[in-house]
Amino acid sequence: MDSVLPATAPDEPDFYAGIGERLGEAHLERRLRTQQELEAHMAIQGRGIFRLERHIKMERAIALAFKLTGLYGRGHRNFLDIRLTENRVVLPTLPAAFEGYRILQMTDLHTDLDPALPEAVIAALDGIEYNLCVNTGDYRNRTRDCHRASMRQTALIYRHLRGEKFGVLGNHDFIEKVPDLEAMGMRILLNEAIPLTRDGQTLWLAGIDDAYFYKTHDLSRALREVPPDACKILLSHSPQTYAEAEGLGVDFMLSGHTHGGQLCLPGGRPVLTHCPVPRAFASGPWRHGRLQGYTSRGTGAGCVPLRFNCPAEITLHTLTRGEG
Ligand SMILES: [Fe+2]
Repeated sequence: MDSVLPATAPDEPDFYAGIGERLGEAHLERRLRTQQELEAHMAIQGRGIFRLERHIKMERAIALAFKLTGLYGRGHRNFLDIRLTENRVVLPTLPAAFEGYRILQMTDLHTDLDPALPEAVIAALDGIEYNLCVNTGDYRNRTRDCHRASMRQTALIYRHLRGEKFGVLGNHDFIEKVPDLEAMGMRILLNEAIPLTRDGQTLWLAGIDDAYFYKTHDLSRALREVPPDACKILLSHSPQTYAEAEGLGVDFMLSGHTHGGQLCLPGGRPVLTHCPVPRAFASGPWRHGRLQGYTSRGTGAGCVPLRFNCPAEITLHTLTRGEG
C-alpha cells in the first residue's frame, strides 16, 4: 500500500498496518481505493451542481452571487459568530459517577476555508468548562490534495483545548491525517471504542469512520468489546447511522456533517443538508426509539465562509441520569 497518496502519507513504514488493525483491513482497502479515485477525479461527492469536487468553481459563483446582492459581509460575520449551544441529555443508563458530565462538541471546522476561523473558535471557547472534548469530523474543506494547511489551522485551535480529546473522520478527511490529529492530543476513533472511567464506573465512547462517502463505518466492530448493558455514546460524522445505532443499543449519538443547512431560509429551514436523513435529524437534538442524538450545525462551514439563518455552534452536552 506504500504507493498510495505519497503527497500526504505519513513517514512511518507501519502506518497502514496499524490503521488496518484499528479500522479493519477491508475498510482500509475500501478507503484507500476511494481516496485514490477521488484524487484521480474518478469519484465524486454530492449530487448535481453541489458535487463537492466542483466546489472550486461553485464557491466562486456562490460568493459572487452574495457579493452582488450585498449580503456577503453579513454572511461572513455570521460565519465567525460562533455560538455556545447547551444541550441537556437525560440517560437512563448513565453511571452515577458521570452525573453532570460535560462533553464539548466541535465539528465541521473545515479549517482551510478561511484563515479567520481559528481565532473566532478560540474566542468562543473562552470560559467554557467541560470534562471531555469531541470532534465529529471534517477538519478540512478540500476533499483531496495535501492536508497540511488544514492541520496547521486545526492545531492552532487544539492548543487551547484541555483534557481528553477524541474525534472521528468525516467525508472531507483522508486517513493519512490521523497521525497529525493524534499529535494534537486527539485520539481518532476508527471503528473503535474506549472506556471512560470515573470513580470506578465506566462510560463507553465509540467512534465510527465516515458513513456518508467512504462508507467505511463499522459499528459492530466498534462495539465489539463493549458490554451490551453499558452506557454507550457514539461519534458518527453523519447522522445517517441513527437506525443502526439504535439497533445496537447506543444511548446517545453525536454527529455533524449537515452544517444545519448553513445557507438557510428565514426560520432556519435548510435548503440542502447533504445527508439522507429526515429533516428532524439535520440539526439539534432528536430521538429515534431509545436512541437520543444531536446533530451540530457545525463550528465552521463548507464551500463558502458564509452562514444565513443557521448560526455556527460549539455544543456543550451535559449528561444527567434519569428516564430519558
Ligand atoms: Fe462538513
